[in-house]
Amino acid sequence: MSPLARSANMRVLLTGATGLLGGALLELLLAEGHEVRCLVRAESPNASRLDAGLVEILRGDASDEEDLYRALKGADALVHVAGIEHSPSVVRAARRAGVERVLVVGSTSVHSAYAFRSSPKLEMEELVRGSALAWTIVRPSMIYGSELDKNVHRLLRFLDRSPVFPIFGPGTNLWQPVYYEDCARGVLEAAKRPVSVHRSYDLPGAEPLTYLDLVKTAAWALGREPRIVRLPIEPVRRALVAAERLRLPLPVDSGQVTRLREDKAYPYEDARRDLDYAPRPFREGVALEVSRLRRLGILRS
Ligand SMILES: NC(=O)c1ccc[n+]([C@@H]2O[C@H](COP(=O)([O-])OP(=O)(O)OC[C@H]3O[C@@H](n4cnc5c(N)ncnc54)[C@H](OP(=O)(O)O)[C@@H]3O)[C@@H](O)[C@H]2O)c1
Repeated sequence: MSPLARSANMRVLLTGATGLLGGALLELLLAEGHEVRCLVRAESPNASRLDAGLVEILRGDASDEEDLYRALKGADALVHVAGIEHSPSVVRAARRAGVERVLVVGSTSVHSAYAFRSSPKLEMEELVRGSALAWTIVRPSMIYGSELDKNVHRLLRFLDRSPVFPIFGPGTNLWQPVYYEDCARGVLEAAKRPVSVHRSYDLPGAEPLTYLDLVKTAAWALGREPRIVRLPIEPVRRALVAAERLRLPLPVDSGQVTRLREDKAYPYEDARRDLDYAPRPFREGVALEVSRLRRLGILRS
């Protein structure tokens, strides 16, 4: 029987299970009764997030073909969340292990007009597409929703503490962040459904919103009304470039500031049609994140 035909109960090798998206995906896989083996780096500081009673934990690195090959023995499918840059070892190990069904998590940054951002990921996607595997590529937009995210979590903490919020440029560029559990649901459906073989899907949030609206919605969820201060982008970008030449440690890099000029809005008709993908609006997701961060004592108010 093909792995896809018995996808009701897959034996899955999952990478990235100690992270934001992989952790949510692991919960969904287990809730559906799939057997999950997690490949976790020996030096992972987060291995304690996994319950060895519920999942098999194998130590290894996703950039290492041998580690992956060893971990793939007996698996029906590989769900690779730990970074599309490991695609060379992922493709080779899956072929050697005879595991055809491979889902790789990429990023909507392949759509960026800035080659420094899109090219490396496009190159990896080409490698996956050129393989003889039953591949699927999914591309989350910016993922948020818990203390593990590296964006909205920080934004909320800043807004929680500061009555003033600085914005680079007019703040009119578009963003479409996706709640981590919605994204994980999309990844799971893509891994399970035969229709997704040899297809790529963008998995963004429900709708694009301007950066200004994103900040105001996050502040609303906190019950705050910060004073917005606009800073010009170009001098800031040039200052960052100069600081990078001096190798100074910086909270943001010039590439991130350059990309602030770019709209990050993504239609997702394909995912809606094939995967029943229905992410929640940012307003709902950020309210959930605020509740969670308050429960954890991460937010003061
Ligand atoms: N977060 C976003 O906004 C965003 C947006 C678009 C696309 N994505 C993509 O979505 C995926 C998941 O993102 P995330 O936010 O969940 O990331 P994350 O929270 O940083 O988690 C990354 C996970 O990958 C594991 N990992 C990293 N390198 C590994 C390696 N060489 N071998 C084995 N495991 C390794 C980490 O394990 P340790 O416990 O050892 O650190 C962790 O479990 C990534 O592929 C990312 O590129 C993320």
